[in-house]
Amino acid sequence: MGNEGERPENLGRRRFLTATTSVVGAVGAGYLAVPFIKSWNPSARAKLAGAPVTQDISALAEGQQLTLKWRGQPVYVAKRSQAMLATLPQMDPLLLDPKSDNTDQQPAYAKNEWRSIKPEILVLVAVCTHLGCAPEFVPELKPQPFDPEWKGGYFCPCHKSRYDLAGRVYSGMPAPANLPVPPYHFENDSTLVIGVDPANATGAA
Ligand code: FES
Repeated sequence: MGNEGERPENLGRRRFLTATTSVVGAVGAGYLAVPFIKSWNPSARAKLAGAPVTQDISALAEGQQLTLKWRGQPVYVAKRSQAMLATLPQMDPLLLDPKSDNTDQQPAYAKNEWRSIKPEILVLVAVCTHLGCAPEFVPELKPQPFDPEWKGGYFCPCHKSRYDLAGRVYSGMPAPANLPVPPYHFENDSTLVIGVDPANATGAA
């Protein structure tokens, strides 16, 4: 026999029971997943935390920045315009380490005026060298409340350290060093790999 003649309150109860069963099913699936995830930890998770990060940056426009996560730290990837790059040599007299002589702060292949492999693409660990806040990207070449002569760069809101558009710290700031450049290379024109030097890359551009 079908539901013909079944009273409306019984139909309602049947629907309620069906819904309850579905919820139990979903919870059950959640519990089943736990042993799998446990068996995956901790060595696989540790390996993943130190693994290189690959990112397609073809959609990144001039003046834009994206934030990636590598080894638990934020990493900024910014695209600089020709006008932005042109500010860099002018900044030198204002900076603590304009020639990136502190070799702890970048690999040898980023010890240049741009602190990067490709002049337009800047890759920085986004951790202020003072006490570790995340500096803000302020790319506009125009006066700012914290600097009327601002030429673009990074501003740390915690204690007001300023860095230029290559992550080089201004003199007289609480931050004692330039923002670090992580190891990285380009797998092809638009694919960036963070965590592996060009010398150790397979098929790098
Ligand atoms: S943490 Fe950036 S200035 Fe202090």
